[in-house]
Amino acid sequence: MITRSDYGEVSQFIMGKEVNGKVLYSMAVYWVDGLLIDSGPYSVAGEVAKAFQGIPVEKIVNTHHHEDHIGNNRFFQEKGAPVFAHELAVPLINHPSPWVSRLRDYQKLVWEIPPASICSPLGDWVESSRYRFRVIHTPGHSPDHISLLEESSGWLFTGDLFLGEQVKILRSDEDVHLSMASLNKLLDYDFDTIFCCSGRVFDNAKQRMRDKLDWWKELYQQAAGLAEMGYDAAAIRDKLLGEENIIAQITAGDISRLNLIKSFLHYQQV
Ligand SMILES: [Fe+2]
Repeated sequence: MITRSDYGEVSQFIMGKEVNGKVLYSMAVYWVDGLLIDSGPYSVAGEVAKAFQGIPVEKIVNTHHHEDHIGNNRFFQEKGAPVFAHELAVPLINHPSPWVSRLRDYQKLVWEIPPASICSPLGDWVESSRYRFRVIHTPGHSPDHISLLEESSGWLFTGDLFLGEQVKILRSDEDVHLSMASLNKLLDYDFDTIFCCSGRVFDNAKQRMRDKLDWWKELYQQAAGLAEMGYDAAAIRDKLLGEENIIAQITAGDISRLNLIKSFLHYQQV
């Protein structure tokens, strides 16, 4: 399934594999002025040509190398669009076979294996005909994660960094301390709207980002306090966040509340 919604000059394409009439774990890519920000999962490759009919894609930026963000790079590249990403993402996008072989079952089912594409490292800026996007390295969700800021319009494209104000779950390979540092870094800039790869678009965005950071800081303080009192990570999760939900089950624990607590306490022995 691919559906389009327009937010002024910015078009959002929600992409997700449909199984028995249900869309599994969709994500969003964004198009503005010829620039495509992420290309979506390979599992919707058969629908991309129709969804982008009449929409010129002159350049692609991948916010990070994850399989749901790079899966259709090759489709657009074969039509002449160059692909760019953070320098740490470049080898992973150009040669995905070493890491895609380690993808978990849910990732292969929902997003499928992305084909290799030819990617070049980003500079400090990305230009389209009418806009200029500042490239900001925002690691945490992954080491190679970037955000794009269009300052004159107040648009901030945050890939998988933001998601919402009160995020209680984390992938096993994420670093919440790095994510908090990245949120702090973004707060040095001015912006009005966050375009998130979850498919949510947030206005009053800077305040929401402050709220997110404050909520995680408070949670971290509470988790660290409980750890000092001798609680283990699972007990801290139960006390602060409650039991795991269906996502932890579906992903066999790869995305869970426990991972968030463990990442908070990474530098402590718990
Ligand atoms: Fe991701």
